Amino acid sequence: MTQYTTPRTVNVTEFMQRTLVYLKPYRIMAAANILLAMLTISFYFMYPQITQYIIDAVIAKRQESMIIPAAVALTGAFLLHAVSNALRIAVNTRFGQKVILDMRRDVYDHLLSLPTGFFDRHASGDLMTRIIDDVASVQRILTDGVERALTTFMSILAVLVILLFKSYSLTALALLPLAVLTAGALWYTFSAHPGYRSQRREIGKLNALIMDSLQGIRQIKAYGREEFESIRFSGQAERLRQSTIKVMDIWAVYTPSMTFAGSLGTVLVLWAGTPMVMHGQLSLGELVGFLFYLGLFYEPVGRIDGLNQMVQSARASSERLFTILDLDTERKESTGNTPFPEKVLGDVRYESVSFGYKEGVPVLKNISLHAAPGEKIALAGSTGAGKTSMVNLLLAFYRPVSGKIFIDSRDISSVPIHSLRKQISLVSQEPFLFNGTIRDNLLYGQLEASLEKMLAAADAANCSAFIEALPEGYETLVGERGVMLSSGEKQRISIARALLKDAPVIILDEATASVDNATEQLIQEALDRLMKNRTSFVIAHRLNTISNADRILVLHHGEIVEEGTHTELLNKQGRYTRFWMIRNEQERVATQVWPNETMDKEAF
Ligand code: CTP
Ligand code: MG
Repeated sequence: MTQYTTPRTVNVTEFMQRTLVYLKPYRIMAAANILLAMLTISFYFMYPQITQYIIDAVIAKRQESMIIPAAVALTGAFLLHAVSNALRIAVNTRFGQKVILDMRRDVYDHLLSLPTGFFDRHASGDLMTRIIDDVASVQRILTDGVERALTTFMSILAVLVILLFKSYSLTALALLPLAVLTAGALWYTFSAHPGYRSQRREIGKLNALIMDSLQGIRQIKAYGREEFESIRFSGQAERLRQSTIKVMDIWAVYTPSMTFAGSLGTVLVLWAGTPMVMHGQLSLGELVGFLFYLGLFYEPVGRIDGLNQMVQSARASSERLFTILDLDTERKESTGNTPFPEKVLGDVRYESVSFGYKEGVPVLKNISLHAAPGEKIALAGSTGAGKTSMVNLLLAFYRPVSGKIFIDSRDISSVPIHSLRKQISLVSQEPFLFNGTIRDNLLYGQLEASLEKMLAAADAANCSAFIEALPEGYETLVGERGVMLSSGEKQRISIARALLKDAPVIILDEATASVDNATEQLIQEALDRLMKNRTSFVIAHRLNTISNADRILVLHHGEIVEEGTHTELLNKQGRYTRFWMIRNEQERVATQVWPNETMDKEAF
């Protein structure tokens, strides 16, 4: 079910254009960062110079009095190096964290605005990996990478000038290994990228697996599947291990060979420089100073390899981010910008609506219906008939393949999506609560609601009694997905939440899970209050709800096959009558076990 779309290739130009944008707001910080980095390096450059001075001017000329000033100068250089380095790290962290925050927020916001269908096809754990890890990997190249690239090239250039100044011929020799280094860098670029790409993919899959199993922890335990899950986990962790080893193997060949090639420069300089000192063409201090500087030359050259590694990893990550950022948001799907008035009347019309989740598999066929404001429409039909899908279209979770839906005579595809959803309250089939307090959950639909309003809604939804009986009342934490509450309690809280939202259109996907009769009665009352004076679409499983509806639509394989009031449909002796009899029998059996006086069964 989950789809791991292979991300498209992002070339370096696109990568630079789209990521450098994130540095723009922090130009000053970026500049300060680079300046400090350069200062740090330049203080270090004084080290070979002072060493050379000590050898040639102090030791060779026996100037003992100069030892202390030279040592003080060297200490000063090291100290300045340390201070500017500390400042550099502090600025770099702040600046890096700002970039990461901006980028994460962008990806997260974009993710939230993607159409519902996207989430059907992507594992949450994989998406989480993109927001956490992939963003961090791109950020690293932007802040550390840019700093490193600039300082590296500047210091290479600076040392090169110093080297040339000291000796042309030795510099020419020292540069010979550069050709090998360039070839190595190119080889690495091409061979490491696919490796990083597959490594990122395997991390995503591993996170997806962990998330899935944590959410299903009760099923794992109940089915005794711990070992099975452990093997599944090990399998995926093993694939991640292998893909990581692949990239690291390439790295293992690459860096040491590059260091070796770089060291050959030192050998060449020693080989040619030693006779020069012997013949008096070069002082000993000059040769030592040259060798020191050569070290400072090849050290940043070596850093280019690390930089290249960062780039390859970040490119693979950016591909995963751009594939998300390039998807159209659901806002783009609506054509108009005129919102609905504060509250619509609630006149809902479906006109020849057809729909399917996958091409060629129709789920709804040519649905037409009209609900007048305040009307209560029940949708009945066997499982998989398309009831939930039908109301999903009203909320624009998905768009019809053909046909149109109107609210108050306005095509909903021409209404901004937020304005549309403001008019509709949803109580879904599986009540979902967020990990927070009961209060947080109640207020979810209307954050600014007053305390009185919240209490009134809780009262109307018949949940105030059980909430107040809890030691921490409305401040009780409900746990992930509301796991610390019973399903009947969750349902009533979700009804109270919908009541507080106070929207003119109600969608109620009744929970199929049965609760005891007393609770059912409480829920029923809560629902009746919720639907009062509102246009309601009730996907009904309970006999009470169905028979109380103004009109009942019977869905079968995505088509409305019967329509009418309860009595009309019963008289037809068709599909509804059969459905009704089966349900009636089920409820009769249920009530034999738990007698229920409140249920009015006379009518049947
Ligand atoms: N379906 C799908 N992709 C989804 C959701 C549903 O392909 N993301 C399919 C289901 O497999 C089903 C059909 O769409 O065949 C209708 O599903 P739904 O509208 O959810 O059926 P309901 O009538 O709501 O069934 P139930 O009473 O079980 O809730
Ligand atoms: Mg359903």
